[in-house]
Amino acid sequence: MCNTSLHAFLAALPKAEHHMHLEGSLEPELLFALAAKNGITLPVSTDPAFASAESLRKRYEVFANLDDFLGYYYIGMSVLLDGSDFEALAYAYFAKAASQNVRHAEVFFDPQAHTDRGVELSTIVESFKRAQARAAADFGMSTELIMCLLRHLPLPSAMATFAQAKGAGYFADGTLAAVGMDSSEVPFPPPMWKDLFDAAKELGIRRTCHAGEEGPPLYVSQALDLLDVQRIDHGVRALTDGDDALVTRLASSKTLLTMCPLSNFKLNCIDSMSSFPLRRLLDAGVRFSINSDDPAYFGGYILENYCALQEAFGLGIRDWEMIAKGAIMGSWCAEERRAQLLVEVEDVVNEWARQFEEQ
Ligand code: HPA
Ligand code: ZN
Repeated sequence: MCNTSLHAFLAALPKAEHHMHLEGSLEPELLFALAAKNGITLPVSTDPAFASAESLRKRYEVFANLDDFLGYYYIGMSVLLDGSDFEALAYAYFAKAASQNVRHAEVFFDPQAHTDRGVELSTIVESFKRAQARAAADFGMSTELIMCLLRHLPLPSAMATFAQAKGAGYFADGTLAAVGMDSSEVPFPPPMWKDLFDAAKELGIRRTCHAGEEGPPLYVSQALDLLDVQRIDHGVRALTDGDDALVTRLASSKTLLTMCPLSNFKLNCIDSMSSFPLRRLLDAGVRFSINSDDPAYFGGYILENYCALQEAFGLGIRDWEMIAKGAIMGSWCAEERRAQLLVEVEDVVNEWARQFEEQ
């Protein structure tokens, strides 16, 4: 909850989320419950932060950088073993997101981090599908799955996972909406992954890539030029350090930047919320959405990200209308769904604009 006069409006605003790692929504309490259920020993002997959910949460407040966070992220997800674990994880996120009026969510998952531990790809995907069906039935939420490959593992591992998903028919039948790329960014620049993205492009599969989170603006240009991605996940450094030509290019190509302000702040990619390049995004007309990335680790879900920006920038209702509509326009959903969501935004904006004018 923020202390701005727009809090209730921000809560009511229909939202689309495009950058949320399901494994990053594993709250410490569920992490400990699943570790106990599955007989997994957490590394408390080498890291006292694993003594309790409370001490772990405290440790999450002081990440030094992306790799420091990722160390906890991969240990955390090691408690996920059977189908019910994956379903519980995804459904818990969908329920929380629905409570913040997320109407459409495109969520990432990292199959290699599970298949390397002996979990079958089909166990992961079919469990997420069950959670997606429940989210549609319970909340009327539309959802898509984006399979991310890990940059800290070699290209052949990514290619093999991609081939497995393709062989299972998950792209052809729409189970997977796109391919993405995440994990440590430097020193794994986009050119390393060209074969993977070429293979996806050949099959007409949508492509997105984490770039410009810790890596330089050059990584963003390379993702566009060499991987031919339709989206950039993060891209914050293109805005904080990039030249006008890159920013103009992003705006004119209508490339969606899936931005994550609290994540950027918690991982020291920006040094305060007011350093988030919101003004440059808006002034240059870059299409972007505001997202939670790894909400269990960074202290907030999508609404807390909206609130953090509102506290730093004091936007008006019409600014938020533009942001909410931009997010919907950049969503990978059917045209009718997009039209329906735009009407939902308009209805809420008009209702609140009237209330503010009456005050
Ligand atoms: N960046 C890179 N990889 C990730 C992230 C992130 O913010 N979250 C989960 N995996
Ligand atoms: Zn991310």
